[in-house]
Amino acid sequence: MTTSPSTSDPLAAALSGRAAPNTGSMSSAPLDVGLLTRLANELFRAGPSTEVASALASPASVAGATSAASLPSPVGVEGIDFTSVPSQPTSIPAPAGVPRPGSLPGGASLPSASATPPVRSLSGHPSPTNIPAEVDLRELLEPRALLGVAGVPASSSTLPGAGAAVEDATFYFLAYATPASKPVAPVPDPWSSPVPRAHVGQPPFDLNRVRRDFPILEERVHGRRLVWLDNAATTQKPRQVIERITQYYEHENSNIHRAAHELAARATDAYEGAREKVRAFLGAKSKNEIVFVRGATEAINLVAQSFGRSKLSAGDEIVLSHLEHHANIVPWQQVAAATGAQLRVIPVDDDGQVLLEEYGRLLGPKTKIVAFTQVSNALGTITPAKRMVEMAHAAGATVLVDGAQSVSHMPIDVHDLGADFFVFSGHKVFAPTGIGVLYGREELLNAMPPWQGGGNMIRDVTFERSLYHSAPGRFEAGTGNIADAVGLGAAIDYITSLGMHNIAAYEHALLGYATKRMAEVPGLRLVGTAPDKASVLSFVLAGFDNLEVGQALDQDGIAVRAGHHCAQPILRRFGLESTVRPSLAFYNTCADVDALIASLLRIVAARRRIS
Ligand SMILES: Cc1ncc(COP(=O)(O)O)c(C=O)c1O
Repeated sequence: MTTSPSTSDPLAAALSGRAAPNTGSMSSAPLDVGLLTRLANELFRAGPSTEVASALASPASVAGATSAASLPSPVGVEGIDFTSVPSQPTSIPAPAGVPRPGSLPGGASLPSASATPPVRSLSGHPSPTNIPAEVDLRELLEPRALLGVAGVPASSSTLPGAGAAVEDATFYFLAYATPASKPVAPVPDPWSSPVPRAHVGQPPFDLNRVRRDFPILEERVHGRRLVWLDNAATTQKPRQVIERITQYYEHENSNIHRAAHELAARATDAYEGAREKVRAFLGAKSKNEIVFVRGATEAINLVAQSFGRSKLSAGDEIVLSHLEHHANIVPWQQVAAATGAQLRVIPVDDDGQVLLEEYGRLLGPKTKIVAFTQVSNALGTITPAKRMVEMAHAAGATVLVDGAQSVSHMPIDVHDLGADFFVFSGHKVFAPTGIGVLYGREELLNAMPPWQGGGNMIRDVTFERSLYHSAPGRFEAGTGNIADAVGLGAAIDYITSLGMHNIAAYEHALLGYATKRMAEVPGLRLVGTAPDKASVLSFVLAGFDNLEVGQALDQDGIAVRAGHHCAQPILRRFGLESTVRPSLAFYNTCADVDALIASLLRIVAARRRIS
């Protein structure tokens, strides 16, 4: 083997299911043996006539083609006048449902023959399907003997972990996946479920079109269709968000607020336009109440360090709920240690609901801050946030609501909620990582000292003193994450076009379906059984380690989280150190839930046969 494909080769990209620049040429970059061996495993597992092969061969499914199609097409940017600063960013994605020129409704682009130029196999033979010839793969694999058992390709019907090329694994838990020995039972027919799917009903949006908007949902994992049920950790991004960020970098990129040139004006418009979208999305009174930060964690730290440090003194109390994510515990512990304030904790019942009476008893003249989540990331409990805010205000406390797990599942109106602060992370609401929002009442923000100093947040600086901007500028020191703020704006456009009420209604029905179906799995105990829940289905499986269950599901292409979910206090309240946590979003379907249940039934059945 003398010629090596570059990692940007569409051939390797098509096989890996990863997007790659469509260069159409071969380069002399070093051979990525790890990648190709994994690809080979996929190929052999699937066999030539299986779904994998056909998916790879299909123009619509070839990653390279998808990638090419997902770039803003020249047609798509035609007609935009870049010679003047648009008052509304011209790059606002077409609302979902409005076909772009040259694309199918919903953003699915027509596969074009030219998007997938003929590629050569590794041995240099033209490959009509973008797949290396089997001979090439064998040649690559032979010396490494990575297949399941001495040259026998790992079969997709082996136990999770068996035959996996673990030495090439990049996921932390796969690195120590243990091979198992026995074949598993055939997958039970998910359609035989006693729970009728019908009651989930048709979502009030076109689910197929919506799913096509999320390119990653076509990804294949271990040869299986990806079933993304890790939405509480992070959500996937629609094409509209990806394209908006690309457009930003291709046509608008500049630092903001401080220059006299065209691109600075475009970038500033785009960034401030995103702030306005967030304002409208949250129902805030003014754009000045929206501070861009890295995420919910940074937002809470900002409030703790700025508001908390300046308001708290020895003997004061900070009230948190038992449900909190570490991000809404640790910053308060730090500020309590610095000021002499005390933490008080609102208990929950055995379903995971906050005990309002106990909460009422905790509130008093010493309570200065109340901080709690609107949806628990570990249990899914929806807290009675509005009532809790009212109770805190009646006691004279200032309230922070952690919306990290609520913004993507329900309509939010900060005005109606009454919270003084509300925080969320962009990546949990279909936007990029590294961008998030602190909402704060304007007069409160302006009364708070900045927590970081630097450029952008000052009105005037001498060596003797500095004068600060009012909010939000005073809390946005330095160059912010401009492009991802713009991406957040696009994500908000996207979900707003679907309608948050529609999303909430559909997810509610889907959660009900999933909850019922989980009862079919022997030994499964749901953790978090509050009647008011969103998205999260934490559970433990009798006789199984949670990580093991997560690994086994992964082998079936099903992504869930297994661990403590950065919420150790609430898990310990239930006598647990970890759970397995599937979590839903609006692009999930009954079929996703069925796949989860089928996989769990198979895992349980396999263990029973072994023991
Ligand atoms: C309820 C809750 N709060 C805060 C956070 C922290 O979010 P981030 O890590 O995006 O800052 C999370 C993340 O999972 C969360 O679920």
